[in-house]
Amino acid sequence: MTNIPYEEIPIIEEEVKIYKVGDEVLREEAEEVKNIDGELVNIVKKMFFTMYNNRGIGLAATQVGLKKRFFIVDMTLNQEPGKKLVILNPVIVEAEGEETGEEGCLSVPGVTESVKRKERVLLKGISLNEKEIEIEADNLLARVFQHEIDHLNGKLFIDYLSPIKKAFLVKKLKKQRKQEGW
Ligand code: NI
Repeated sequence: MTNIPYEEIPIIEEEVKIYKVGDEVLREEAEEVKNIDGELVNIVKKMFFTMYNNRGIGLAATQVGLKKRFFIVDMTLNQEPGKKLVILNPVIVEAEGEETGEEGCLSVPGVTESVKRKERVLLKGISLNEKEIEIEADNLLARVFQHEIDHLNGKLFIDYLSPIKKAFLVKKLKKQRKQEGW
């Protein structure tokens, strides 16, 4: 694993809405970030707060209704300071191996399922302070990167399940959505 370009990012204690399965924005393709302005930095700060509150380790812009290609990660669930990662315009340039592991998603409440992913990836992108970054990741971090990039392409982890299993889950989630009002 290469040195990971963590960034010092203060959080803004304001929750942003997390869109859930059934919301169209989760199925849309995000667009490249061309300009890192104050508005974008502010939403990143709020996204960290929201992600920590919901006990997530990764959150993509599309999940908060923003069609921009970036995501945030903190594998420590905010248990260790200084482990914030923001990746803009992420691209996986190399990938190898296969690994099956459990995944969940803040946009798919209450569901964890096994998904097959690449075991190791080389990710390129841009940090919030506009530096080009390159991260070699394996296992869980590689999985998070692949999961979050999928979000930016309108894909959810339940799309990897068998059609029968997916149909069953979608039906269940629709019912749950109605009952719980999300
Ligand atoms: Ni997700």
